[in-house]
Amino acid sequence: MTTRVGLCKTEYMLNPIGLDVRKPRLFWQLQADSQGVVQSAYHIMVASTREKLESDQADVWDSGKVSSNASTHVQYEGQPLQSEGAYYWKVRVWDGAGAVTAWSETAFWMMGILSRGEWKAQWIGRKSEQGALMQPSPFFRKSFEVKKKVKRAIAYATALGVYDLYVNGERIGDRFAPGWTDYNTRVQVQAVDVTDKLKTGDNTLGVILGDGWYAGTVGFLGDKVYGERPFFLMQVSLDYEDGTKERVITDRSWTTTRGPIQYSDMIKGEAYDAREELTGWNKPGYADSAWEAPDVRSGYNGLLVAAIEPPIRITKTMKPISMKKTAAGTYIYDMGQNMVGWTAVNVQGERGTMITLSHAEILNPDGTLYVDNLREACQQDHYILKGEELESYEPHFTFHGFRYVELIGYPGEPDLDTITGKVVHSDTPVTGKLETSDAMVNQLYSNITWGQRGNFLSVPTDCPQRDERLGWTGDAQIFARTAAYNMDVSRFFSKYVWDMVDCQQPSGAFTDVAPDAGWIRHKNWNTRLNWFAPDNSGWGDAGVIIPWTIYLMYGDVRVLETHYEAMVKWVHYLKNTTDELVRPGYANYADWLSIGADTPNEVLATAYFAYSTKLLAQIADVLGRVDEAAHYQALFGDIAAAFRKAFVAEDGRIHGDTQTVYVLALQFGLLTEEQSRQARERLVADIQGRGDRLSTGFLGVGYLLPALTDNGSLDVAYKLLTQEAFPSWMYSIKHGATTIWERWDGWTEEQGFQTPSMNSFNHYSLGSVGEWMFRYMAGIEADPAAPGFQHVIIRPKPGGNLNWVKASYESLYGCITVEWRLSEEGDFHLQVDVPANTTATIQLPGPAASEHKVGSGSYVFESVSMLN
Ligand code: BGC
Repeated sequence: MTTRVGLCKTEYMLNPIGLDVRKPRLFWQLQADSQGVVQSAYHIMVASTREKLESDQADVWDSGKVSSNASTHVQYEGQPLQSEGAYYWKVRVWDGAGAVTAWSETAFWMMGILSRGEWKAQWIGRKSEQGALMQPSPFFRKSFEVKKKVKRAIAYATALGVYDLYVNGERIGDRFAPGWTDYNTRVQVQAVDVTDKLKTGDNTLGVILGDGWYAGTVGFLGDKVYGERPFFLMQVSLDYEDGTKERVITDRSWTTTRGPIQYSDMIKGEAYDAREELTGWNKPGYADSAWEAPDVRSGYNGLLVAAIEPPIRITKTMKPISMKKTAAGTYIYDMGQNMVGWTAVNVQGERGTMITLSHAEILNPDGTLYVDNLREACQQDHYILKGEELESYEPHFTFHGFRYVELIGYPGEPDLDTITGKVVHSDTPVTGKLETSDAMVNQLYSNITWGQRGNFLSVPTDCPQRDERLGWTGDAQIFARTAAYNMDVSRFFSKYVWDMVDCQQPSGAFTDVAPDAGWIRHKNWNTRLNWFAPDNSGWGDAGVIIPWTIYLMYGDVRVLETHYEAMVKWVHYLKNTTDELVRPGYANYADWLSIGADTPNEVLATAYFAYSTKLLAQIADVLGRVDEAAHYQALFGDIAAAFRKAFVAEDGRIHGDTQTVYVLALQFGLLTEEQSRQARERLVADIQGRGDRLSTGFLGVGYLLPALTDNGSLDVAYKLLTQEAFPSWMYSIKHGATTIWERWDGWTEEQGFQTPSMNSFNHYSLGSVGEWMFRYMAGIEADPAAPGFQHVIIRPKPGGNLNWVKASYESLYGCITVEWRLSEEGDFHLQVDVPANTTATIQLPGPAASEHKVGSGSYVFESVSMLN
């Protein structure tokens, strides 16, 4: 048998360390060349050492042969897992004919510190400096001796703030760790294997601590939202070859001082004075007698949890495509792409010279940087030269959203190699690829993915440049499905659901932003920001929609189980704020940034109430809560009836009469058959009446093309997709967009820039059309009855001017690909790859519209006639 078992993952990760789930879930893939490959049984062995596992001594868990087709989310059921324990595992499977594969390669996972009592480390910080408005980033160090041979060394670290960790001078770990959580409730702990970084003799641990979200500026909520200044906690566990153990912990024996980083703030940028560098500070042998003792903080009442979110990393470097000298003697670089991260620079010059890197998304008509839309944010980094040979600099604890970089005060003549763009975001591996015969559609897809890259940074933020960068829940829910096609967001969104749950209000309301950063209790709450509510329709609903999306795309039942009560609370909260099941005025943001069409709040709020309830019924069903499923299904029916009674006129007109009211009513299933027909007609008439143009905002846009396609107007969907006149996706592309704009009218030929008070050029919400591109245009659709693409529905929908589409999605089971093309005669050709241990239903388009049920393998359908 040629089937192999590979890609063995634990909790969605390859060989993770530092876990705290007591029953980790195991995943593997079947790799086979033949068609129709299924798994009929599996056998897992888990051992406490690699050697034991290799000699089949499963001293931790031997599942025996289990008849099952499950190859994802297989829950560990062995011995209780020990704190800091290492577990090695392998699996073999039987196919449909009863033949067994070889054992997989050995995989492993390691547990983290499982109880609070085992944390011996203390939180260390540095006292604030008097008089300084912006505080310098403190440096910490600790030297220790390793006397014996180290078998394994794991560093468990976290911060209230963000940290950079060094072992013997080498920077290890990720950026902006531990990420953003509701620090009042929890903070994530990173585990890093440092075995290879240590040596016998003297070793040094070094840490630089940034304010991050904890003590630095958070959006427009000001600074010090969670705490006055940052703190760091670390425990390094050393396991020696001779079986003994030792710990190195943060405590009073560390030393601290200020260094070259004058300040470093997410929103305000960084200033770095290289003359104050502490050469060798993070290596052994450095004389730190002038350093101070750290300030030890007693007690942190939040939870120390294993990191759920994927690490934040530099995932790409970018070279500028052009450079221009300005009349003022500065240099403006074009990176060719609106990106998020920072700029690294090389420079040589006199000691004390200051250079500045200033960042903006766009240029003014006169060629200068357009920074008006940054509001209070300052996207500038300053570097003061130490005056030695070639100096290289990049900032530490800040990030910027930009395409253009202005280099100010540069000594000498820079060139294109002087700067490099570093693209920084939560490292969610790419899972989707999409290409078509239309270059503008391809650019649109590129813009969608760059929007995601730029805004998925610990939490799904709205934008990366102005003083906002908050985890807006409405934006996240509308884009979640698109995001999940593009990249593996399983852990990213699992973490974000915790963020939402952590700030769920006692009333049951999910908040508009998560983490809410104390917004609800914020000092400005009753003044400047008093029109923000904790429970906006279409925003708070993310608390149900996102778990459901994780379930659909990854088959993750645990996320539904874990948060079921929170979702129930939300739906009850919604119900409690209705008047005969109609929710008056609970959608303060309405169909945010719609264009020339105002959807009434109560229609939106009632529609989303129905939708959350409908999903909750489906979720209860998945969890086997039969009575509750029936209850919420019935409630959904009642809400739909109330919606019809309150808002649908006899001629089918829905109150507000906007594209969004029809789209939501159709997609949420709120109408009778007759009303659906009328809604479809009115929707299409409205679009046509505007010259084949849309008017939807954040809440309607994601459902617009699906609603049209599901209701027999695929042609209209394609017209909207490729429309180039304003407002449209292609309008922005025609005007040079390389990311999705916040607003349809961010810039127009007639008006120029929209108001600077809210005009981001990198907001992903309107990019939620990506979902339609995968689910309809390419036709890779999930099946809620066999989620996670265990059964995939392939239903390509050719249309518009497209001659071909190539798309793929890397599912948990393997890669699903769809390639279709239309021949010159107009015949349809399709090639499909279906991963092993999954099945597909292939629905061919055209008048014959045949359906084919297949197992795994590659399939080709030639010359399907599209003619009537
Ligand atoms: C954000 C949006 C968000 C909206 C809600 C804006 O400031 O940028 O993305 O959804 O506020 O009103």
